[in-house]
Amino acid sequence: MYLERKAQLLVVLGLALVFEGGESRNHEVFVAYGSVAVLPCVDEPSVLSRPTAVYWSRIVDNVRKSVWRREKSGLEFRPVTDPSRAYCPYPNFGKGDYSLHITGMTDKDGGKYVCEVEGNTRMVKNIMLRVIKVSFSPAIAVEGSVMEVTCRISPEPELGRQQVRMNLNGKSTSKKILYNVSQRDAGNWTCQVSYKGVSGEATASLQVNGIITPQNDSSVVYAAVGTSVSLPCVFTEGPIPNSVTWARTSKTKPSSLLLPSSFNQSLGSSVSLPSWERSSWIKSVEYGDEGIYTCSGMMEGLNGVRIKVQRRMQLVVTQVQSSSASSSYGPVTLTCHLSDSSGITYYEWLRVTYGVNNTQTVTFVKKSKDLRIQKVTEKDIGEWVCRYYGMQGVLGNITYQLHMTGALMGERESMSGKNVAMVMGLGFLFLVIFLILLQMYRNYRRKKMILLYPAMETIVHQAATEQERREKCKAKINEACGGETKSESV
Ligand SMILES: *[C@@H]1O[C@H](CO)[C@@H](O)[C@H](O)[C@H]1NC(C)=O
Ligand SMILES: *[C@@H]1O[C@H](CO)[C@@H](O)[C@H](O)[C@H]1NC(C)=O
Repeated sequence: MYLERKAQLLVVLGLALVFEGGESRNHEVFVAYGSVAVLPCVDEPSVLSRPTAVYWSRIVDNVRKSVWRREKSGLEFRPVTDPSRAYCPYPNFGKGDYSLHITGMTDKDGGKYVCEVEGNTRMVKNIMLRVIKVSFSPAIAVEGSVMEVTCRISPEPELGRQQVRMNLNGKSTSKKILYNVSQRDAGNWTCQVSYKGVSGEATASLQVNGIITPQNDSSVVYAAVGTSVSLPCVFTEGPIPNSVTWARTSKTKPSSLLLPSSFNQSLGSSVSLPSWERSSWIKSVEYGDEGIYTCSGMMEGLNGVRIKVQRRMQLVVTQVQSSSASSSYGPVTLTCHLSDSSGITYYEWLRVTYGVNNTQTVTFVKKSKDLRIQKVTEKDIGEWVCRYYGMQGVLGNITYQLHMTGALMGERESMSGKNVAMVMGLGFLFLVIFLILLQMYRNYRRKKMILLYPAMETIVHQAATEQERREKCKAKINEACGGETKSESV
């Protein structure tokens, strides 16, 4: 008993000597939990030549414990426990560097260390090693639960002069207790310590079990009528979410609505998709499918507690509405219509044309919600696109195919009608000219015949005069001739 106390006293005396030496000022070292600590022991002014022995020891409860040592004989000693964690790289010795490296820092490694190097003279360095550790409690975080983030420094420096700052993903935060853990709390929590002009930091990564996509309840999905759309719901990898369901409500009223007829849900049992991918999709969006869609599932927290995790997203249905009355020649107005336009800052209209090899040319037309085409002509037929923007930039677009409208069709028909009339008119004209020419030819032929046979002309003429005479006789001396006829008949 007495001997033991005497030995302790000696150790304490020895320590006192060590700390009183010129080199005995404590050197602070901060190191992150789990990393490799380098305890400096450098003979900067190079007072030592030919070091013969290096002793590294640690002071635990005022008792010196050897950590690593190299005797004059060249023999190296390591503690029986954790023999490989502490070492001094020999090649450094030549440069007067006797620093001790310790791997896999734990908070138990923090404390006072002493470096002694013997040679022609003796060098002593005292080091205070402090381990910084960021931890979360409970260790499993589930969205919606309560959690505490702590930064522990062991041993803790004297309060007041220490400065501890906490960063989350590079941004300073003062939060220590999180009452409603969300994906915003996930990421790298860094604790930065600066003390007596020395600084250090430690980082721990927090995964929050729940839904990673969408990240929050404010996401909006835009889909045009007739297209297919995916509503994302991706859970964090790892624990499998249970009883995942989808529901739909109105944006303005909390009443629940039916899911669209072409709504499909990924059941998490398919081979191609991992079990945490629970997105759904609508094959063909219809006008009226808009609303708030909620994906929810149960996740296991600490001690098997089941916590409900859910994410809301809004579906906005988009459509181009045309004012054209099918049978009129009037102007056409195309309107970019969204079931909810509260997130829209502006619209623009683009004309899309296709050249050879299907090369697409997009031409800006106008920055407005409506597009008025005074008179639709054939060059307007084809693809028109309405693009809509929000605060973050382009949100989406709607394609509209401008078909042959009634007006244009009517125009085309009347055009062909005119053509038919024109063709018919021309045909008639040609027919008339042909007939005239034919008549002229016949007259010509007749005259030619008369010139060829003059006698025949006389005969014909005589025959004609005889006929004439008889006619005259019939008309003027009707009785004489008539009597003749009468008697003949009797
Ligand atoms: C956290 O740190 C790791 C490693 O440096 C990095 O890969 C990761 O992107 C960081 N995470 C965030 C959210 O910043
Ligand atoms: C419209 O949106 C689709 C899908 O985002 C995109 O591929 C296409 O290039 C867009 N069209 C125009 C004209 O911006």
